[in-house]
Amino acid sequence: MNAELLIMFTLDCDRAYLYAHPERELTPNETQRYEEALARRATGVPAQYITGHQEFWGLDLIVSPAVLIPRPETEHVVEAVLELISSAGPKQSQEQDQRPRTGVCAPHDLRIADVGTGSGAIALALARELPTAEIHATDISPEALEVARANAARSELTSRIEFHLADLLGALPAASFDIVVSNPPYVGDSEEESVQLEVRKFEPHHAVFAGPTGVEVIEQLIPQAREALRPGGWLVFEISGTIADRVRSLLSGWDWDEVAIRNDLQGIARVAIARKINP
Ligand SMILES: C[S@@+](CC[C@H](N)C(=O)[O-])C[C@H]1O[C@@H](n2cnc3c(N)ncnc32)[C@H](O)[C@@H]1O
Repeated sequence: MNAELLIMFTLDCDRAYLYAHPERELTPNETQRYEEALARRATGVPAQYITGHQEFWGLDLIVSPAVLIPRPETEHVVEAVLELISSAGPKQSQEQDQRPRTGVCAPHDLRIADVGTGSGAIALALARELPTAEIHATDISPEALEVARANAARSELTSRIEFHLADLLGALPAASFDIVVSNPPYVGDSEEESVQLEVRKFEPHHAVFAGPTGVEVIEQLIPQAREALRPGGWLVFEISGTIADRVRSLLSGWDWDEVAIRNDLQGIARVAIARKINP
């Protein structure tokens, strides 16, 4: 798989070309480029940082060591958001319905915040799926936001996403979002040894590790999301099996209902969902 990625990178081609031309031989220049890429990979550098690309939700994203490499399991977070929206049904007419707005409406009415956007993976996937939603994406890292902006430009989604350099939801207005979505850092320092060496060595520490227990960022995100959401709005975020019980207890209480934890394809707790109480 890595060898395939690196050869596609060397030849600047896609998988279809690679399989259609098994007879293709490497020129001396290409051989040198391939060997250099292999040598970097042998030192543990993730293949995606060598090629500069990772696919997510069908989008070809640029990645650099400034951002976490988007993972396939994060697509469950995108799926959960889309399911909540589609189960909300068609928008009620604002003219006919003068009641206060409550949470998820039709896509053209939606305001979504993606907290800790990194490469922009979640924000871009949602922008692609929800062509009229208003999407705001935050990150604490200016370098990550540069990558996210470049990805938005490449996918022609720049006009659809507003990027904010912010600590979680700090820069965003209160009570104005239908959905707050996030893949926050959630690994605890005590778990460090169980994290793959190449993640520890090459991916941004602040994107992976949250603090001693792993829930430190989520502990701040939950009350901030409560402030940012409209009544009835949804908080959807990625978690790991290690912190699932702690997250469930953080979401128990008067502020949230319809709390659910969904598993990924390996049966590991992966997505936490909660609805801001609609008084
Ligand atoms: C696990 S990565 C997720 C990146 C991307 N959303 C994804 O799913 O691939 C977490 C991201 O949160 C950002 N981050 C960490 N602490 C933050 C904070 N307090 N406020 C905003 N962003 C933060 C990191 O810079 C990193 O880009």
